[in-house]
Amino acid sequence: MNALQITGINELKLATVPDPVAGPGEVLVDLRAAALNHRDVWIKLGQYAGLKYPCIPGSDGAGIVTAVGTGVDAAWIGRAVIINPAVGWGDDERAQGAAFSILGLPRDGTLAARIAVPAAQLASKPDHLSWEEAAALPLSGLTAWRAVFTRAALRPGERMLVTGVGGGAALFALQFAVADGAKVWVTSGSEEKIVRAKTLGAQGGFLYNRAGWAVEAAKTAGLFDVIIDSAGGEGFNELIDLAAPGGRIAFFGATRGNSPGIALRKIFWRQISLLGSTMGSPADWAAMTAFVASHPVKPVVSSVFPLSRAAGAFALMEAGGQFGKIVVHLAD
Ligand SMILES: NC(=O)c1ccc[n+]([C@@H]2O[C@H](COP(=O)([O-])OP(=O)(O)OC[C@H]3O[C@@H](n4cnc5c(N)ncnc54)[C@H](OP(=O)(O)O)[C@@H]3O)[C@@H](O)[C@H]2O)c1
Repeated sequence: MNALQITGINELKLATVPDPVAGPGEVLVDLRAAALNHRDVWIKLGQYAGLKYPCIPGSDGAGIVTAVGTGVDAAWIGRAVIINPAVGWGDDERAQGAAFSILGLPRDGTLAARIAVPAAQLASKPDHLSWEEAAALPLSGLTAWRAVFTRAALRPGERMLVTGVGGGAALFALQFAVADGAKVWVTSGSEEKIVRAKTLGAQGGFLYNRAGWAVEAAKTAGLFDVIIDSAGGEGFNELIDLAAPGGRIAFFGATRGNSPGIALRKIFWRQISLLGSTMGSPADWAAMTAFVASHPVKPVVSSVFPLSRAAGAFALMEAGGQFGKIVVHLAD
């Protein structure tokens, strides 16, 4: 089958590799579309724990089940599915266990014509989503869901700020929170992305590259009950300033690196909770997919690339050019 491999640091190769086989408890999925996450870029750049080359990247996929391994109900065959990329979470809702892994390293990922995955990872493809929209949902949707609802426990009517709204997970945080009745503001490096976020229900937005943006945000929008971040870096202290007394800051990434000189005194004096979050449990996955099936939430597909031009998809993400998800089309 055709697949995209990462063969070394910054080395992408279109390859013909043996078809995977569904092992015990697994299914074989013929993939229609896959989507990129920043994780795939970190792996390509050699900046991810447990690197193994060559590997087939990709954590997000949607397709049709074509075969089942022993112990799996044959009724799965022919069903349109999306794949939960959080494998082996374990039985503790508070955190994943030692056997946890993410599809697309160490296990082969979704940038391929076919994939074998445990049947327990499957959910039905939401009917109202195209293949591209369905492939865009899993990793970012799951991550955003857990950060916003499980960790930060956002309630309808609360005020929330999402940073870097052009990012895949950030945009889902905006869409889910708006659909749940929260009032949401955003930041971005691009005025155009802020305008687009407003069409999805954002109250307003601020350019994080503009000096003094956080002071302006506090003056014009006020403080926030919940802040969702994945940038980290030096700007994290501005988020602490923007949290309301008793506010919660949930974060799941550090695109801009660690945050030096965190203002500890402000955090304890103002009763602020800092909440780390990663991916999501099977319960988070079930809640997220049920929410998408019953609310008018459609993943935003920024661009679609054929597998033969997947390098262009990586380049777009590295340049931060996307608004929403970058999708790779695999078959009709
Ligand atoms: N722990 C987990 O489970 C988990 C899951 C998913 C993602 N992540 C991490 O979260 C981060 C985002 O992932 P993703 O896949 O959503 O990436 P992505 O689609 O590539 O989004 C990255 C976004 O970061 C924003 N950004 C860049 N510099 C920023 C700054 N100084 N302040 C605020 N935002 C800034 C940009 O927003 P604009 O385009 O609006 O400027 C950009 O679009 C990555 O570090 C990723 O590794 C972690």
